[in-house]
Amino acid sequence: MTGESRTWERALVTGASAGIGASMCRALAAEGTDLVIVARDRVRLSELADELAAAHAVKVTVLAADLGDGLGLEEVAARIGEAGEPVDLVVNNAGFAVAGDYADLTADDVQSQIDVNVAALARLTLAAVRAMVPRGSGSILNVSSVAGLAPGPGTAVYSATKAFVSSLGQSLAAELHGTGVTITTLHPGFTRTEFQERSGYAASHVPAMLWQSADDVAAAALQATKDGRSSVVSGLPNRVAAALLGFVPRGVQTRAIRTVSRLIG
Ligand SMILES: NC(=O)c1ccc[n+]([C@@H]2O[C@H](COP(=O)([O-])OP(=O)(O)OC[C@H]3O[C@@H](n4cnc5c(N)ncnc54)[C@H](OP(=O)(O)O)[C@@H]3O)[C@@H](O)[C@H]2O)c1
Repeated sequence: MTGESRTWERALVTGASAGIGASMCRALAAEGTDLVIVARDRVRLSELADELAAAHAVKVTVLAADLGDGLGLEEVAARIGEAGEPVDLVVNNAGFAVAGDYADLTADDVQSQIDVNVAALARLTLAAVRAMVPRGSGSILNVSSVAGLAPGPGTAVYSATKAFVSSLGQSLAAELHGTGVTITTLHPGFTRTEFQERSGYAASHVPAMLWQSADDVAAAALQATKDGRSSVVSGLPNRVAAALLGFVPRGVQTRAIRTVSRLIG
């Protein structure tokens, strides 16, 4: 189906209670896509479900789960694998950062980022691939970050988790070629959501021109997924930065990012 624009009957979106995930749900519901929405906060999910069902006459199912918890994760994986009401778009969007130098992080800060950003995303991607490949169709949209394209002193674990997401996506795009299933990896930059406050990364000095809205990021991501593209960097400044990284030696990148993160953090 590559080359045609895709639409979906039913999407499962993780991290749907806020930010980019909530924006994706609003955009998908407006196109008539039924939704399974996943996050920990059941109340916020229920409010979103009511809003979307009323506005767009779509079916929205709330699946409250902690993706950092094995039982919650397996519940979501099982829903992706269910054949009765098949999910034809899986969006692995849930994620978070804990800002700070590595020496200042707790063991839980390190493990929880790996659990949610890496292990859960990999597990749910596996569930999606196993369900979709035999059907010969489906789309996977995984949310990485421009932070995954370079080392990230000050957010070292977060950047490493997002590098995993980008690498996994690139490999799977090649493996899935010709199966009818596509995987798209989104690389957003600074996006106005709850992410910065939750991460403890103030980002108060980031110039206004570098910020995007969650709606704009969601729109770019969904368009790239419809087009079957393997990777998308949202926003012109982020695309310029990503292109420049290809020419700048890794050591120079690391020192520059260290300096910038101290200035804007
Ligand atoms: N905002 C940015 O500047 C930016 C830049 C690059 C990449 N990103 C990436 O974009 C994605 C979305 O982030 P956002 O900016 O929209 O942040 P956000 O507003 O903080 O939303 C994060 C979402 O993830 C969910 N979540 C977090 N931990 C979870 C867990 N253990 N189990 C289930 N759900 C969990 C949260 O819901 P609950 O709290 O209800 O569980 C929330 O719905 C993340 O992967 C992030 O790394 C963001």
